[in-house]
Amino acid sequence: MKKNSHSPEETLHLGKSIGSSLISGDIILLFGDLGAGKTRLTQGICNGLGLEKDTYIRSPTFTLINEYQGRLPIYHIDLYRIDSHEEIYSLGLEEILFNQGITIIEWAEKLRSPKNSNNLILNIEDRIEIYIKIISESEREFTFNTFSLEARSLPIFTLL
Ligand SMILES: Nc1ncnc2c1ncn2[C@@H]1O[C@H](COP(=O)(O)OP(=O)(O)OP(=O)(O)O)[C@@H](O)[C@H]1O
Ligand SMILES: [Mg+2]
Repeated sequence: MKKNSHSPEETLHLGKSIGSSLISGDIILLFGDLGAGKTRLTQGICNGLGLEKDTYIRSPTFTLINEYQGRLPIYHIDLYRIDSHEEIYSLGLEEILFNQGITIIEWAEKLRSPKNSNNLILNIEDRIEIYIKIISESEREFTFNTFSLEARSLPIFTLL
């Protein structure tokens, strides 16, 4: 599924509807260049998960993982500064990923398996992938893909 946003506000709104339809254990992987809008979308998702609107969401580039408490625990991870899969393994992300919270990962490109780019490391199978493409200064194209997620009774993007 694809959807275009024409402003940062529209992206916040899109994130919000995604956030409100997430369920415990969901993993959201964000792909896209610098400044594509991954953090902006994350802000919206957090609002949709019930986080106060004025909670400031910023890229956890230096801290790597930020944790917020919405209607579910939210783990916001940014892999931009990670250079190797060894580094990723050393973070112990499995504990977060396969738990009851919501995990949102920026720069999910870094999780691609070296042998088969369709596979991801860390045994990630069930997930929602969101690709963000910069169309112009204020326009972004969002492409959504879900993988596995058989446990869900409702497809996630019917609400968008
Ligand atoms: N339609 C839009 N949706 C989202 N952001 C937009 C849009 N149009 C312009 N922008 C601008 O693009 C920038 C997106 O920044 P953001 O931090 O969300 O990107 P990012 O993908 O997280 O980048 P990084 O890889 O550096 O973490 C913001 O400055 C925002 O104002
Ligand atoms: Mg960011």
